[in-house]
Amino acid sequence: MDMIKRRSVDPVYSMCVQPSFIIGTNNEDGSANFAPITWVSATREGGDGYLLVISMFGTKKTKQNVLRTGVFSANLVSTDMLPLMDYFGSRHAKDGRKNGIPYSVSRGETLDVPVLDQSRWVYECEVAYKMETGDSTTFFSRIHGIQMDERLQCRDTFDVDLTVLDPVIYSGKYHSLGKLLGDIGDFL
Ligand SMILES: Cc1cc2nc3c(=O)[nH]c(=O)nc-3n(C[C@H](O)[C@H](O)[C@H](O)COP(=O)(O)O)c2cc1C
Repeated sequence: MDMIKRRSVDPVYSMCVQPSFIIGTNNEDGSANFAPITWVSATREGGDGYLLVISMFGTKKTKQNVLRTGVFSANLVSTDMLPLMDYFGSRHAKDGRKNGIPYSVSRGETLDVPVLDQSRWVYECEVAYKMETGDSTTFFSRIHGIQMDERLQCRDTFDVDLTVLDPVIYSGKYHSLGKLLGDIGDFL
């Protein structure tokens, strides 16, 4: 087995392979707001379900809305949604409604949150815990509902074929997914 030749560098680079979600929230006037958030992960608190973990820095509207209402949708971004993600991420709700690009919105099925019709996988979430680190807030949220693309056939919790979802992978640049390589145990 070859040894990789590495070099030591300052710890200023961020290499974190991130899933891309657009978070949908309710503004005070009932209108919808959307922003991309890629600091997204998962954990558990016992029982069958799991918690979606999202982290936001600064004072952005999306964070204020989640703090105020306690609910949000997390809409997975597929590669065909890149123009939407780029648009939502380059506009701030405080500068006005994000209506410069066409998209359609429905309401959640389990929670009163705005969801993007174009998304192939939508989580409907309610905040259970939060933690502050400097100017960032990390929200641990219960998943009340999932809307998944009808083409997915999931036999169990982890049987999700990401190639159907064609997610955008982010780590400072936008990437797409490669091949499906197998299941746990296939390489033992
Ligand atoms: C690809 C991408 C990923 C982002 N991920 C995050 C994130 O994980 N956390 C965060 O606080 N902001 C993140 N942002 C920044 C917000 O999306 C951005 O500040 C947005 O304008 C906020 O909109 P709002 O003011 O309507 O809430 C990301 C932006 C882009 C383009």
